[in-house]
Amino acid sequence: MRNTLPLEGQVAVVPGGTGNVGEGIVRAFLTAGATVVVPSRSQKRLETLTELVGPDLAKRLSGTTAAYGTFSEATELAESVIAEHGRVDHVVPAIGGWWMGKALWQTSEGEWEKYFVETTTSHVAVARAFVPRLHEAGSFTLVTGFSAREPYPRAGIVSMHGAALLMMRQVLSVELGGQRRVNDLVLGPIINRSRPAGSPSWLTADQVGEAAVAVALNPSVRDESISLNTIDDLNRELDRLGA
Ligand SMILES: NC(=O)c1ccc[n+]([C@@H]2O[C@H](COP(=O)([O-])OP(=O)(O)OC[C@H]3O[C@@H](n4cnc5c(N)ncnc54)[C@H](OP(=O)(O)O)[C@@H]3O)[C@@H](O)[C@H]2O)c1
Repeated sequence: MRNTLPLEGQVAVVPGGTGNVGEGIVRAFLTAGATVVVPSRSQKRLETLTELVGPDLAKRLSGTTAAYGTFSEATELAESVIAEHGRVDHVVPAIGGWWMGKALWQTSEGEWEKYFVETTTSHVAVARAFVPRLHEAGSFTLVTGFSAREPYPRAGIVSMHGAALLMMRQVLSVELGGQRRVNDLVLGPIINRSRPAGSPSWLTADQVGEAAVAVALNPSVRDESISLNTIDDLNRELDRLGA
């Protein structure tokens, strides 16, 4: 008899799943048996993701060309996922990337709009659309970087964006009062397809995915901010989560 995979029958949504870190999260949820919905603004990036995960896992990958940068777009996306798949169990937003190069007083309004306003709005839009539609045993795990906690010189916009996300997660936690599981992963530098080499202590995108699946699987993980700067952090967390 075939062994059942731990997330078989469950639906995970990964906004940002076409990205460098998102790819590892998508692969991990597919490997754990979930159907994984990845919305993207770009059909081409969805095709690249399909190739990267390979034909076997791609059978459960549901890519959809859809934006979620406004409240109405994200709501439409959430409604269409429920209509097509019947449920949403886990949402892991890995939206937006890195930017640096200027002190805060040198940044242009365009840079502020692109790296703070647009990415932060997308995260809020996704949270407000999906959290109320999450299965009661489900989870919402947002992903951000170390610069959310430490001011990073010449990357102030990204630091401020990350800090806003961490506060959003805390606000969701107090407002939900335990009704749904919301957590965040605060990552150090990640080895990924765009940066295939780095310090041996850094996590890979696939290891970020492993941590995100461990959080999704463990019902006792709620309202936590989990730091994953190094492989030692990852191993400690996987041990704690019983993964
Ligand atoms: N890479 C690292 O080393 C690292 C380290 C620490 C933390 N992180 C965190 O991991 C998350 C993802 O980073 P990444 O390196 O994977 O980024 P990335 O490769 O640039 O991917 C960004 C993803 O976000 C989506 N997105 C949606 N709206 C966006 C917008 N307005 N602007 C930019 N992207 C948008 C993109 O989707 P489309 O398909 O629609 O383009 C894409 O899938 C971020 O929260 C970042 O802070 C990354």
